[in-house]
Amino acid sequence: MFQQLKVRRTLSRRHLSKVLVLPSVFVLLGFASALALYGQLGVHDPGVRGGQAGAGDAIPGLSGAEGNSFTDAKATFMEVDTVSGGLGPRFNLDSCAGCHAQPAVGGTSPFTNPQSTVATAPNQVPFFITSDGPVREARFKFNSNGTRDGGVHDLFTITGRPDAPGCNISQPDFNAAAANNNLIFRIPTPLFGGGLIETIQDATILANRNSNAAAKQALGINGHPNFNGNDGTIARIGWKAQNKSLELFAGEAYNVEQGVTNEIFNTERDETPGCIFNGTPEDHTKFETSTPSDVVKFAIFMRFLAPPTPAPATLSTSNGSNLFNQIGCALCHTPTLMTGKSSSGALDNKPVNLFSDLLVHHMGPGLGDNIIQGGAGPDEFRTAPLWGLGKRIFFLHDGRTKDLLQAIRAHASSSQNCQGAQPANGTTPEGFACNSEANAVINTFNALSQGQQQDILNFLRSL
Ligand code: HEC
Ligand code: HEC
Repeated sequence: MFQQLKVRRTLSRRHLSKVLVLPSVFVLLGFASALALYGQLGVHDPGVRGGQAGAGDAIPGLSGAEGNSFTDAKATFMEVDTVSGGLGPRFNLDSCAGCHAQPAVGGTSPFTNPQSTVATAPNQVPFFITSDGPVREARFKFNSNGTRDGGVHDLFTITGRPDAPGCNISQPDFNAAAANNNLIFRIPTPLFGGGLIETIQDATILANRNSNAAAKQALGINGHPNFNGNDGTIARIGWKAQNKSLELFAGEAYNVEQGVTNEIFNTERDETPGCIFNGTPEDHTKFETSTPSDVVKFAIFMRFLAPPTPAPATLSTSNGSNLFNQIGCALCHTPTLMTGKSSSGALDNKPVNLFSDLLVHHMGPGLGDNIIQGGAGPDEFRTAPLWGLGKRIFFLHDGRTKDLLQAIRAHASSSQNCQGAQPANGTTPEGFACNSEANAVINTFNALSQGQQQDILNFLRSL
């Protein structure tokens, strides 16, 4: 009761000050200039860029045979799986192209979430899936005995589908996981230009890391590669740069997102008797015709998928681009890295305008999700590539916002746990760094004039 009263009083006081301040500003400045000022105060995300998709086609420069493979592979990427085709027992959706859809096949979360209509009774749509929200996969942070989990828990089961008679398994308890603060989300990353990202040499990533050392140090920016434990080279695919290659990711996605076992991930994730309808691996090389498996085709499609096409520059976007470099966004979001020597001419020695250093950075407790993947710690994320941002609907690893300005401000965070006596290792109890590496840059961003901030947003929506 007391709480409620207090809130109401604060609200009305805030109301009052607005009511008093606005008219006096109008009187002081004159109506026209006050209106202009008011317009300026509203720095706003211009929203999803209209016009053509500018993405989804093959990268220029492919040989005829490569181009044919791309077209064939794209059709496989768009296929919808059924149980006899390998779907389940557990899954998040039944098609790669369902989640990777915006603004064209290969992209990210579309305007209408296909997960909101894929469940068959008794399956229910989890509370965090809405028709106009982002596509989401869910991870649990811990097991009930307190050990780390970190794995993906699929939203749906094939139970109740007419093509899965006799299978009887239930969905995970997402409400309990949420109540225990044990639930985190990831949204799909876009696949455009994937082959270019794959072809950047480790040496290029490391040299870029070592560049501008003084500026980075002054701003508190570090960042390190997520080295792959198996061959020691730099993994770079996924929100935490946790995966080595597109093909490895495709194999994992086929099994984890759709439940289709394959030549890379060949074991069903749920082996409940009555729910296994096919031999493993369900997707495999077609020996009679020497045709590659679906997973190989997915990799071909993604490798040869062109990068997104940016909009033509305007005065505002050029200014925004300069500011983006000047204030230090570009120290993490490296505008361009070169590919190395490639076995495909289309990918060989090409500039990659990805706006990422492909390193993982401490983003502090605000973004930290308490999931560890290889060398990426609980609050570390790969600098998100920003190409194609103009056409994106949802932002940040969990899709928490549709507003670019919020996405930028969310980079900054510090833990109250770390104020006063600094813990010995500079981390919070969850293992998050006390401060985001982006704090200083975001402070500078916030201190820019409204017009300058708007130029940066316009620039980002031109990518
Ligand atoms: C249910 C939605 C969903 C489906 C279906 C799905 N994905 Fe994804 N995809 C995601 C999410 C979520 C991520 C981000 C995962 C992460 O990094 O934690 C992702 C990331 C990726 C990435 C990483 C790209 C990058 O550079 O970060 C690749 C590659 C990929 N998916 C390929 C595929 C393929 C191939 C298929 C079909 C076999 C597929 N996905 C099906 C949701 C989906
Ligand atoms: C310390 C490195 C760092 C700096 C500095 C930095 N970023 Fe980022 N940025 C990241 C990381 C890491 C992510 C992914 C975070 C996540 O998803 O939780 C990200 C994500 C983003 C996204 C969302 C992209 C997506 O795919 O959802 C935008 C937009 C963005 N940054 C813009 C900026 C701008 C503008 C600046 C400068 C004002 C900036 N960033 C400075 C590391 C950085």
